Amino acid sequence: MAKEMSTEKDGFPGKPTSVWMDTTSETDYPALNGKVKTDAVIVGGGIAGILTAYSLLEAGIKVVLLESGRVAEDVTAYTTAKVTSAHGAMYHYLTEKFGEDKAKLYADANQAGLLKIVSIILNRKIDCELRKQSAYIYTEKAKNRGALKKEAEAARRLGLPARYTEDTPLAFIKGVVEYQNQAQFHPRKFLLDLANDISKEALLFENSRAIKVQEDGKNVTVFTGQGEVEAKSLIIATHFPFYDKERFYTKLYPHRSYVLGLKLKTEVPDGMYFSIDGMRNSIRNQGLYGKKILLVGGGTERAGVDADTLKYYERIRTYADERFDVEEIEYHWFTQDNRTPDRLPYIGKMSGAKNIYVAAGFGGWGMTTSAAASTVLTDLILGKVNTAASLFDPARKVGNRLGPIEASISENVKTFTHLLERYTKRYPFELPAGFEPGEGKIVSMRGRKVAIYKDKEGKIYSLSPVCKHMGCNVGWNVTEKTWDCPCHGSRYNYDGKVIHGPANEDLDKIDI
Ligand SMILES: Cc1cc2nc3c(=O)[nH]c(=O)nc-3n(C[C@H](O)[C@H](O)[C@H](O)COP(=O)(O)OP(=O)(O)OC[C@H]3O[C@@H](n4cnc5c(N)ncnc54)[C@H](O)[C@@H]3O)c2cc1C
Ligand code: FES
Repeated sequence: MAKEMSTEKDGFPGKPTSVWMDTTSETDYPALNGKVKTDAVIVGGGIAGILTAYSLLEAGIKVVLLESGRVAEDVTAYTTAKVTSAHGAMYHYLTEKFGEDKAKLYADANQAGLLKIVSIILNRKIDCELRKQSAYIYTEKAKNRGALKKEAEAARRLGLPARYTEDTPLAFIKGVVEYQNQAQFHPRKFLLDLANDISKEALLFENSRAIKVQEDGKNVTVFTGQGEVEAKSLIIATHFPFYDKERFYTKLYPHRSYVLGLKLKTEVPDGMYFSIDGMRNSIRNQGLYGKKILLVGGGTERAGVDADTLKYYERIRTYADERFDVEEIEYHWFTQDNRTPDRLPYIGKMSGAKNIYVAAGFGGWGMTTSAAASTVLTDLILGKVNTAASLFDPARKVGNRLGPIEASISENVKTFTHLLERYTKRYPFELPAGFEPGEGKIVSMRGRKVAIYKDKEGKIYSLSPVCKHMGCNVGWNVTEKTWDCPCHGSRYNYDGKVIHGPANEDLDKIDI
């Protein structure tokens, strides 16, 4: 669902939305009403759901797509949309942890994903600002050059078009792995066009949140508030799966990153950059009404934990100011993506279910991995062999070496700590004097914890802070004026309406 951001100023310059949202119109597909039967029902209208719907239709399978809000308005609308196999320092890691054969499966699946997106755009003549670009994985520290040399060698051995160089286009960079023939695009222009085509051949429903799943051994039925879809297969592409037989709540970890859209006084550089240093900064350009702006991003913190989202924007502003001649901040936005312990996505059949499939855990690289998911899932549903399927199997064991297990333990300790905080964390007994319009706070009132927000007219909204997913206490997000859950990334508007799952219900209202 669209973020329905507060119109109040959030204290940071530039429009509080993405360039993709700002330069496209909202869609208006109908809501599901009544009963429908189909071959495959896809839940989730982001890039993973739309590409999978497209692939299944191409394969002659009848589909229905259900979206809780409007298509391509959640995480995909706030991406930086680099369509590339260059996923940080990934290939040396994969080769070391899993061996060259598995690392090659990942490389090939992502290169095929890149080609799939480019071919769809060219074949269907979609006007979505597709541009060929090099992707650069970079460091600003001389001591990290060695790591990048190893990365380039690993990527090259896997057949990727990669090379290490210190002859870099940006002066502050000390070394890069350059991947040639990668791409950037406008994700919403691409997906809205595709959704329009899908809606002519299949049923596409918006404002249709899937709230329940029923399996009867042969078919599966998905229920929304006003209707139901019975299908031979269900594909869950809801970012964090809303139906969870796989215990994703223990193996998906939401992390936020922030983006600024900047007007520069100087020429805007070409190329798509991603840093392996601290903040994992990301840089690419984007056309805007005949001019170009520079998108500079970064941030790696666990979603929903720190209320002071403003400080992360400030950090990126400082990073950008120190490296570019910034004239003005046009946009600022953030979103979150889910990581997995072994850094591979979960794509495939859900354990213990005959005909339920998922695509999740893209770890910040969901453009090519969503395209890979659409191919893997289509093959699985058609009963065809897909060589990458075992690599991405959601039921795989992630701990064949210490690294993934450690990642899993440390992230789950954080989740468990937040779950406990529901009982242990103390909140003030009353609102602080000078509780200003636009602020949100949790307080204890007559033995209950209450999440309170005051809007600019002074109207108070009082809610239970207990997240409807698994019961962690939500926390206030100062820039977006939302209640965000630190456990698995659910988000709610200031009035309690759920805007991002896995939670599927609104926060309870409390009378004070
Ligand atoms: C700041 C940032 C920058 C990024 N940049 C890049 C990049 O440059 N390149 C790259 O490859 N990746 C990038 N990523 C990652 C990429 O954007 C994501 O992996 C990808 O967009 C996720 O797509 P999705 O379809 O899984 O999720 P979403 O786009 O969130 O789609 C899921 C959909 O499911 C719907 N939904 C949820 N619950 C229900 C329900 N119960 N019923 C019906 N519908 C439901 C939601 O409304 C939503 O529309 C970035 C991530 C971040 C955080
Ligand atoms: S998102 Fe899982 S408890 Fe809130």
